[in-house]
This record gives sequence, structure tokens and C-alpha cells, in this order.
Amino acid sequence: MHEDAAVTGPKLRLGVNIDHVATIRNARGGAHPDPLRAALVARDAGADGITLHVREDRRHVREDDLLRLKEAMDLPINLEMACAKEMLEIALRVRPHACCLVPERREERTTEGGLDVAAQHNHVAPYVRRLGEAGIRVSLFIDPSPVQNAVAQALGAPVIEIHTGAYCAAVEAGDAARAAAELAALQAAAADAAERGLEVHAGHGITFQSVGPIAAIKALRELNIGHFLVGEAIFTGFAAAIQEMRRRMDAARA
Ligand code: PXP
Repeated sequence: MHEDAAVTGPKLRLGVNIDHVATIRNARGGAHPDPLRAALVARDAGADGITLHVREDRRHVREDDLLRLKEAMDLPINLEMACAKEMLEIALRVRPHACCLVPERREERTTEGGLDVAAQHNHVAPYVRRLGEAGIRVSLFIDPSPVQNAVAQALGAPVIEIHTGAYCAAVEAGDAARAAAELAALQAAAADAAERGLEVHAGHGITFQSVGPIAAIKALRELNIGHFLVGEAIFTGFAAAIQEMRRRMDAARA
């Protein structure tokens, strides 16, 4: 049983997403680099949890990665999954600490936007219920929007994860005006969700450059970061990249 943020206080947790370690492994079809080994390095470097997304097309991690992780890992595991019967069965079999419900389209390169829980309420509801009944902490990956927050609250999900992709893309593009507007949307959505009693996480596209203003949003309890850390590992190593991300999060929070 892992303590929730309400118990542990305002520390901003770092969930490290290991999907793209598996992307590199799968490029050659062998066993190297092993996502489990990366998860153990992440843990030792200060990660508070490990996140992974078993996709319908298994383009990166697979169910056997999840099982090995569950067996060997003493940190909370956060399984990102589509609202699909097959994924629900996997989640109920493996019972990770948390499941984050995400939209999934086969042709997309990555999760391009949040789950539209306002439009898909009836489709999402049984997944929130079944996972919650199994004692799995459910989060909904949604765009920064009070409307989405309200529906997440009505669905009874204890956690939301706000999609930071639009803000991070604006930062990367050097578009200051768009970045300011996207950051304001993240701040407003996080504050609104916290007022509704939801635990608020955030993630997608976060880099060293964009993490500071996001981490400074006090309502946030957890960031989930993957692709940038795996890319940065090429230059500095995975542990060093995670430690630097952690340092920047703490500095922004101080
Ligand atoms: N959070 C969610 C819900 C995601 O789907 C992803 C991408 O798998 C991430 C966080 C991590 O995004 P990135 O790999 O861009 O850091």
C-alpha cells in the first residue's frame, strides 16, 4: 500500500516512464536495453514511481514487461491504458498501484491529446468503476479544462493527469505568447481540479526547459516524464538525466 500525497505532504513526485527504453529494444527485437533494468536505475536515481503504457499494438512495452516489473519493483507502478476490454483484463490480472486511462489511436505517434471524458462519459465510466473496485487508483489523462475536470469528478476518479503537451510544444517552438497562454490554462485547470478534491498529476512532452514552470504549480502532486529522459540518457546517462530533472523540479518548488 502506497501513501497518497495527502498523507505524504506537498512533495512533487516524479514518475519515470520507461516506454521508450522498450522502443529502442524493439528496434532490434532482442532483450537489450531492458526496460526493467531502466526502471531499477530510475528507482535508484530518485524516481517515485514507474509508468508504462501497454498499447494495443505493443509498439513499446508488452505485458511480459509489466509482469516482470510487478515482480521486481518496489515502487508504485502506473499503467497507462486505453479504455479497452483487453487492457482492463490485463490491469485486473496484474493489479498495478495505479491506472491512467488515456486515449489511443493506432496511427498516432504518441498520445496527442487528453481523453475527452465529457464526450465519452458512458464509455469511460465502467473502466473507472471496475478498476476502482479492484483497489487500483484510477487517473484520467485529460486536457487542461474545467469541463473535463467536472466530468472526471462526476465519474468518481480520484486523480486526473493534465496533458502538458501543448505547453511543452510552445516552449520548444520558442513561442512565448503561446507558452504563456498554455501555462495559464495548466495553472487554472490544476487549481480547479484541486478545489474539486481531485489529486492532480501532469505529463507529456516535459523537458529540462519546460519542467520549471510546470513543477511550480502548487496543486500538482506528480509529474510523469519519459521520452525526454530516455533521449537525454544517450548523452549523460539515464540516472544523471533523472537526477537533473528531480533537481529542477525541487528548485521550481522551493
Ligand atoms: N503521461 C501520460 C498519460 C502519457 O501518455 C505519456 C506518454 O506516454 C506521458 C505522461 C509521458 O510523456 P513523455 O514521454 O512525452 O514524457
